[in-house]
Amino acid sequence: MNVAVDQSVEWLNARARHIEAVLERMLPAEGAVPARLHQAMRYAVLGGGKRVRAALVYAAGYACAGQQIASNLSPDSTARRKHLDLALDLAASSVELVHAYSLVHDDLPCMDDDTLRRGKPTLHVKFDEATALLAGDALQPLAFDLLAQMPVDAALIVQATQVLARAAGSLGMAGGQAIDLESVGKTLSREQLQCMHVLKTGALLSASVTLGGLAAAMTPAQKHALDAYASAMGLAFQVVDDVLDVTADTAQLGKTPGKDAAANKPTYVSLMGLQGAQDFAGELHAQALEAIAPLGESGELLAGLADFIVLRNH
Ligand code: IPE
Ligand code: IPE
Ligand code: MG
Ligand code: MG
Ligand code: MG
Repeated sequence: MNVAVDQSVEWLNARARHIEAVLERMLPAEGAVPARLHQAMRYAVLGGGKRVRAALVYAAGYACAGQQIASNLSPDSTARRKHLDLALDLAASSVELVHAYSLVHDDLPCMDDDTLRRGKPTLHVKFDEATALLAGDALQPLAFDLLAQMPVDAALIVQATQVLARAAGSLGMAGGQAIDLESVGKTLSREQLQCMHVLKTGALLSASVTLGGLAAAMTPAQKHALDAYASAMGLAFQVVDDVLDVTADTAQLGKTPGKDAAANKPTYVSLMGLQGAQDFAGELHAQALEAIAPLGESGELLAGLADFIVLRNH
């Protein structure tokens, strides 16, 4: 990776440490009754993960608000900055909670039947299946509870709630997961595969970008740029996940590689070969960078994340 990518990895790692501390505070204490459920929720969320979705929330928020606030150090702008930071912490936590819940359910024996996640035993292995189901059930509403606490106009909270609900629901992540399961053993057309990936993974990544923009009261022009960036990066993320399932090892991934082929899942690699999938990720990367060109320097963090998403090895 080049110097610019190293810098964005450093920024992402710092954000990951920050969101870990925020999530640690937002989750119920592990001794709170029912303790086993709360321990399981904390196990699912804390201590791992790249935190790309949280980072997208912050990067989009700073892209929309950064310049006005950073360049004006009046007491009024200091208060606004505090509100922005809290709104972004809450939005970033909410997407990481929904994501963590989706991983817990994705790993269950009735879905991908995985035993390793983020370098640790999956939740149903460490606890039990019923607890894994309930932890997922409980993480999702907690995400909406956090969104409702954002210190922004009520109208923005309503929009943010709808964005996250739609991204997680049957026309978003849950729908994509249903298509994923229905597609085992089938050959999908390129359009069908894109639809599945956009729903199961793209929807929540896109929502992360939109939530960051909403927390910073984005303008219509900013929204236009962010939407196009998010569509490209949301799809690119799952294309790269498909590639890494073939090219990376257990130590890099923290999960078991080779599962897609073993489970006979249609992926971009099965559709277009390894090189074809890598080239497609490169095309999406270029589209994402073009989309945020109008944001100028404010879009630098988003550009760095786009680089990381396509060049990562884990
Ligand atoms: C894995 O997501 C599941 C997909 C949607 C592809 P990540 O690769 O973001 O997983 P963590 O959060 O870093 O563990
Ligand atoms: C997971 O896709 C998508 C969601 C969890 C919504 P995968 O099944 O490819 O994710 P990994 O590879 O297990 O992380
Ligand atoms: Mg899956
Ligand atoms: Mg899986
Ligand atoms: Mg995968």
